[in-house]
Parts: sequence; structure tokens; C-alpha cells
Amino acid sequence: MATESAQPKEQIVDPWTAKAGEGEKKINYDKLIVQFGSERIDESLLQRIETLSKKPAHHFLRRGIFFSHRDVPDILNAYEQNKPFFLYTGRGPSSESMHLGHLIPFLFTKYLQDVFDVPLVIQMTDDEKFMWRDLGLEEAHRLAYENAKDIIACGFDVNKTFIFSNLDYMSCCPSFYRNVLRIQKCVTCNQAKGIFGFQDTDSIGKMAFPAVQAAPSFSTTFPDIFGDNKDVRCLIPCAIDQDPYFRMTRDVAPRLGYHKPALLHSTFFPALQGPQSKMSASDPTSSIFLTDTPKEIEQKINKYAFSGGCDTKEEHEKHGGNTDADVSYQYLTFFMEDDERLAEIKKNYESGKLLTGQLKKELIGVLQKLVGDHQARRAEVTMDVVKQFMTPRPLNFKLSA
Ligand code: TYM
Ligand code: TRP
Repeated sequence: MATESAQPKEQIVDPWTAKAGEGEKKINYDKLIVQFGSERIDESLLQRIETLSKKPAHHFLRRGIFFSHRDVPDILNAYEQNKPFFLYTGRGPSSESMHLGHLIPFLFTKYLQDVFDVPLVIQMTDDEKFMWRDLGLEEAHRLAYENAKDIIACGFDVNKTFIFSNLDYMSCCPSFYRNVLRIQKCVTCNQAKGIFGFQDTDSIGKMAFPAVQAAPSFSTTFPDIFGDNKDVRCLIPCAIDQDPYFRMTRDVAPRLGYHKPALLHSTFFPALQGPQSKMSASDPTSSIFLTDTPKEIEQKINKYAFSGGCDTKEEHEKHGGNTDADVSYQYLTFFMEDDERLAEIKKNYESGKLLTGQLKKELIGVLQKLVGDHQARRAEVTMDVVKQFMTPRPLNFKLSA
């Protein structure tokens, strides 16, 4: 749970920290699959998703940005038999502004909602941020609503999406608290310490919280949407840092008579300083925020984005750049949709024909457009729209046998 800035001896990936181990240039995701016991998203799973969704797979899937999963074939089997499932993801509203990394799970969730046409619930953990950060309850609650605007600006369908603040929903939905209690009864302090690294000096509120993040994995937490149907399976898209919560959830689910939630895990959108750590709002120099101006984006990329190129033009032209380490190139893999253009950039950068400055210029253009478009869509999201998304209500989807 410690957030030292130096690289630790062994890599650390948990809900609070993502750092490569000493001497490593990037976080080792293969190692995480082994350590966490998840499964790699392979070619056959990718094809199955394409077949069932009748659409080409999202570039996050094709490029291995979403790289790991748990039990996704079960979700697809159910879907194939016309059994519904729902999507669940969330956000811890700790800052006024979200950053580019936060967009990743939401953009991907939007794609899943579009191609599978399923309901979605989005948890805003204002309670969590109250417990962990130096934030008052009212401020955390306000940030949940502010961040909800950014999430809505990703384009979710209001007829299929319920966004909730834990502070609000816990006090108006008895079924939510009942599921939280059922989960809390199943997990011992020793288990919570083992999974999350809690210390005896941590507040009891922290120890209790994981059950609150677990509960939305079960359809009975949403009686307005699913009635008392326990059988609607849940699929959770998130970055791999959130996996500990759902390992715990999957462990207790069968004891409560619920399905285990399935997961799709993404890698991290890297910090500007390089792929040894993730973009994190707690380090503003690591981040490009969704509120940044075109000028700020340009300055940050030019000043901070770690380059995999050589120091001089001559050397670069001779040896070429390293796209594995180069943050600007990495960012393009997330946000440049055109596969051919991306492949051309990779080839030219690695051969030394394309210089770091030119690569950065290309990226700056892509990000200025992405962030500018986002800001325009967000400006359209009024408090009225936010309230529509955040009102408990039935959603529009078919619950067939
Ligand atoms: P939070 O607010 O820290 O992050 C929200 C989502 O963004 C992902 N994420 C990233 N993805 C890629 N690159 C990055 N640099 C990056 N930084 C963050 C996180 O993995 C997460 O998916 N406790 C959670 C809120 C939550 C939740 C959930 C998340 C509640 N229920 C269910 C996922 C699924 C949190 O504070 O996320
Ligand atoms: N715990 C996450 C954080 O502090 C926020 C979160 C809540 C979340 N529910 C989620 C993230 C579901 C992904 C999926 O960052």
C-alpha cells in the first residue's frame, strides 16, 4: 500500500500503487497473470467476441491493452443462449478532474454496452475516497457528481446505464446494504489483510470498504433493474489494479448463492515519465487531465513524455527509437485507431526515419482533438442529465429466459 516514488525491489500492483520492480523498464503483465491467477485474452477468445458481437473487436482488445480476464467464456456462453448479463465498473472520485488513464475502462465499457446491448451500472465510491483521502464527505459527494459528467461524456446510453454515488445509494436501497452485510460476514480480518495489505493502524472503515465495492457484482443489489433475479451474470471491465476486490468477491460469491463476476483487465495507461508506473492523479506531472488546454497538452508532452529515441539526431537516424519504452508511441497505441497509420509510425520510428519531435507532434494533435472533443461533450452534460443517470429506475433491456 506504500506509495514511495522510487522503484520497489519487486513490482507492486494493487489498488493504490502500480510500479515496476527495480531495474525493470516496464510493469511485467505476464507476471501479473501468473501472480493473480487470471487468464490471458488469446486469439480464440478474441474471435469468439467478434463472432458473438458481430463487430470487429475494439482496438484495446486487438492491441492487447485489455490483456487478461476471468470467466469471460461463461458470459459469452450465457449470451449465446440469450441469457442476459450486465456490466459493472466504477470510479473513485478523488479529484475534480479525471485523467486520460481513467478514460480507458470507460471507453471500453461503452464499446461493450454498444455491441452487446446490455445494462450497465457505474459505482462512484465517494465513501472510499472519504475514508482514504483528506476529503470531507460533502466534497467527496460533490466530486462523484462532477466525475459522473466526465463519464457520461463518454457517450453512455441513459436508457441502459445507472450511475450511483455510494453515499446516496446506500441510504436509499436496502438491498445494497443487505448484500454488503452478507459479504462482510464471509471475509475475516486476516483475509482482508492478506488481500489488501491493511495494517492494524488502518481505520476499521478501510477494512469494511471492499464489501461495498464487491456488492454491485450481484444483480440483487439493483432491484429496480433486476427485481429479485439472482441469475444475471456480471462482467467487470477495469484496469488490473482493481482485481484484488474481485478476487475477494469471487471467493465469497458461491457461498452466497451468487454467480462469480467475470472480469476483463486492462494494462495501465503509463505515466508521462514512462511505463514503470501508471498515470496517477496524485502525481500531476505524470498526468494529462481531461481539463487540460491544448497548450498544456503540448507543453506536457514536449517536456515530460519519456522518449525512447536517441539523444542526437545522428544517433537516432543510425539506431532508431525504442517504441517499447517510448511514452508518446505507447499513448498512440491507446488513442490512434487507424492500424495502418500506427504501423507506419512504428516502422519509421524504429528505423530512425521519424524523429522524437515529429512523433510527439503527431501525438499532441491526436490528444488535443480527443480532449477537446471530450470537453465539448462534457459541457453539454447538465446537472439534469446527471440526475437522470443517477436516479434508481428500471433500465431498458430484455430479460429473456
Ligand atoms: P479509480 O477511480 O482509481 O479508477 C477508475 C478506473 O480507472 C482505472 N484506471 C486506469 N486504467 C488505465 N490506466 C491508468 N493509468 C488508470 N488509472 C486508473 C481503474 O482500474 C478503474 O477501473 N475503487 C475504484 C472504484 C470502483 C471500481 C469498481 C472500479 C468501484 N467499483 C468496479 C472498477 C470496477 C477506484 O477508485 O477507481
Ligand atoms: N476503487 C477504485 C479507486 O479508488 C474506484 C472503483 C469503484 C472502481 N468501483 C469500481 C473501479 C469498479 C473499477 C470498477 O480507484
